[in-house]
Amino acid sequence: MTGQERKTLGRGVIPTHYDLLFKPNPNRFRYECTERIEVSASGPTNKITLHSKGLKITSASISWKGEVYPAIIKYRHADETVRLSIKKKITGSASMLLEFSGTNDDSMYGFYRSKYTSKNRTEYILTSQFEPTSARRAFVCFDEPAFKASYDISFAIDSNLTALSNMPEVSSTRTKNGKKLVKFQTTPKMSSYLVYLGLGRYDMLFKRRPGRIYRVITVPGKKDYANMTMDFTVKFMSFLESYFCIKYPLPKIDVIAIPDFAAGAMENWGAITGREVQITGKEGITSVPVKRTVATTIAHELSHMWFGDLVTMSWWDGLWLNESFATFMATKALDAVYPGWKIGIEDKVGDMTGAFWADQLNSTHPINVTVRDPADIDSIFDEISYSKGGRVLAMMEDYIGKKAFADGLHRYLSKYSYSNATKDNLWGELKPKSRGRDASVLPQVVRFWVDEPGYPIVHADGPRNGIVKLRQRRFTIIPTNRRSKAWPIPIRYTTDAGSGFVLMKYETATLKVPNAKFIKLNSGESGFYRTSYSKENLEALGSLIRQKKLSPIDSWGVERDLVALARTGTIKLDEVLDFIEEYCKNAEYPLNMAIVSHLDSLALLFAHNKRLSARIRGLSIEFAARCLRAAGGWTEKKGEDNTTTMLRSLAIRSLGMNGDAKTIEKAGALFREYTEDRKEINPNLRSAVYNITAAQGNEATFGKLLGLYEKAGGEQKIRILGSLGSFRDPKLLLRALDFSIGAKVRLQNRYAVVASAASNPTGRRLLLEWVLTNWKSIREMYKESGKSILDFIGALSVLDNREDMERVRKFFAKKQNRVRVGDRELRNTLETIESNIVFIRNNV
Ligand code: BES
Ligand code: ZN
Repeated sequence: MTGQERKTLGRGVIPTHYDLLFKPNPNRFRYECTERIEVSASGPTNKITLHSKGLKITSASISWKGEVYPAIIKYRHADETVRLSIKKKITGSASMLLEFSGTNDDSMYGFYRSKYTSKNRTEYILTSQFEPTSARRAFVCFDEPAFKASYDISFAIDSNLTALSNMPEVSSTRTKNGKKLVKFQTTPKMSSYLVYLGLGRYDMLFKRRPGRIYRVITVPGKKDYANMTMDFTVKFMSFLESYFCIKYPLPKIDVIAIPDFAAGAMENWGAITGREVQITGKEGITSVPVKRTVATTIAHELSHMWFGDLVTMSWWDGLWLNESFATFMATKALDAVYPGWKIGIEDKVGDMTGAFWADQLNSTHPINVTVRDPADIDSIFDEISYSKGGRVLAMMEDYIGKKAFADGLHRYLSKYSYSNATKDNLWGELKPKSRGRDASVLPQVVRFWVDEPGYPIVHADGPRNGIVKLRQRRFTIIPTNRRSKAWPIPIRYTTDAGSGFVLMKYETATLKVPNAKFIKLNSGESGFYRTSYSKENLEALGSLIRQKKLSPIDSWGVERDLVALARTGTIKLDEVLDFIEEYCKNAEYPLNMAIVSHLDSLALLFAHNKRLSARIRGLSIEFAARCLRAAGGWTEKKGEDNTTTMLRSLAIRSLGMNGDAKTIEKAGALFREYTEDRKEINPNLRSAVYNITAAQGNEATFGKLLGLYEKAGGEQKIRILGSLGSFRDPKLLLRALDFSIGAKVRLQNRYAVVASAASNPTGRRLLLEWVLTNWKSIREMYKESGKSILDFIGALSVLDNREDMERVRKFFAKKQNRVRVGDRELRNTLETIESNIVFIRNNV
């Protein structure tokens, strides 16, 4: 194989149908399986290669034209494949017959086990996570997205257990040995990574609708967390069916909450799974931001029922066709069903922030990324595939219009149903009938955005004498000498003399804006590019922000790009702080929240600069105090906006962490009343209260928080873990870090302390030492668990000096420390540290 080729099975033999009978032994966490795969061979062959990892095949044969040929089994562990060879050369249809056994381990991938406690006893459910390449850990298969086949799945199990899969049960019959045989309906043609296997005792909430059954499934005792999920599922499903104009094709949909889960949630067709805290919740207990996440997650996974499950990318380089669309559609669904939640703004802000951040590194990658080795797939589930992809789709929708875009998606989904597609198939359907602005160029425009790494910044010179001169260049935080082509940028702009639109095709452009005194580019912030302005124009925009005459999202865009320009050294940090001070005092959502969090991260970065850190801290306190007043103080009003609730907790947290005495006292009192008098803290304030308490805390506080952790459930556990990273006493912080990777913390939550320690001013050096010292066990811990380990590398992005940077570089350059899935994250991290160093040096 040359380096250019993909590592794939090839298309010589294609599966058309799988018959799988699982015989689990849930007490020993092992299972046997009888499998028959119907295949079609294009030419005479006596060798068939399939995927298999960690499975023990005990018998294999191929049946062809009435004869059965026993097969010789040869594993190739490095490729996660197995080759079956027989005496006879076969062609056309044949069946493969296999017997094998596998194990249910704790890796959160494959057909694994997940633990819960019921009546003080440890119990397990069995569940599966196959995306991207773990179906092969559960059954022998052609484990690539383009091999779509139908599946007949059945389980031979104890009669007191419940089996789950993609489809509804067709039958459950008693067998001679006192067990039952549960058979599921045949699935439509689908990819292996979407198959679902589940087994255990569950609580279930049902809702029947004509031709469809909805179920929300939890481990025993958590049924009261299911209602919220049911409500979201039914509502988003109906929105999506009407938006796509394509009925959800399966007769049932399950949403299953799993105690141990590697990702956030997963779109198995007809059997969505997810972390308990990410897909279930309870009114009055679940905080506002978590409730919004639950809704978003359900909408995201439901969107995949079409984008991903019904129509699947042909290969992993099209992962974004799944993930960008799910991101894009989730925002749309939430905006439609809950317009008052203003999710559109939150998602735009969140996705642009995350994607701009990742895509301003030289180590970024195009949305449509080349994947040769499946081992590299895990690392592309990142901000580029999700957030940049989602924003580029939104930019295209904005360009051709909502209706034309929806029609194109409908055509694409109809045409490629039960099949696979590439980006070109999508452009093909968006193009022909799109109306509106110069839609014929859409394929070229979108192709550029999807195939080129990075993004531009557009500088506006003017307005002067009715003219604005535009110039674009690639925006990177570390200068690059690689030249890039000009992006085709759909530019919306607003001036005091009216608004306009151009497609900027070259490096420069001239806008005619007769009589205009100011210009704001990227009106509505629907385009994926930054902007910068001449001094007078920036002042004009500032005055508009101060007078609340610029829309909240446009105001946010102006400030956001100023902060970015300071990072690259184009302007001084003081200029940004001046701007904030001068113009942003009355800022509304989302600018107010953005400023609070910008100031907090700047304070961390400039902690060693006495003058700047005092200035930032002063501003922070002033701002946060104003935000808290705007939110009406500490007490939540009935029926207030979500954004007000979120602003309040952000402001309190910022005040407390910046040392505001009154806030610290009040948070301390709430914590005391809670631990001593069991007076509950409002769920929306808990995170802030725990963090402030920990930041001020001593050994006794540490003990109290650990005590709370032991008893806590779900969201509460994660909040407490997060706060443990805020201890400022190095001894306690170290204890917190050690605790976080110990037996008391589920593998899925072990990132939490590290993540919060990264924003702890006393924690950075210590964090570095700790990660390097514990790297061996961290690696061991996540050996088979995909990208979870990335959080431990990414946390080091907060480092701010050359010495630390070199230590990181040298450490991971050693062969024994490398983790392949982390290669990209490491490059991102080193580049970010380098940028921190430059940023600090530019502002001494
Ligand atoms: N398909 C992914 C799940 C996934 C992620 C599988 C990474 C394998 C590796 C799923 O649709 C997803 O995107 N989940 C997100 C949550 C979502 C709300 C953004 C996740 O897990 O973070
Ligand atoms: Zn997804």
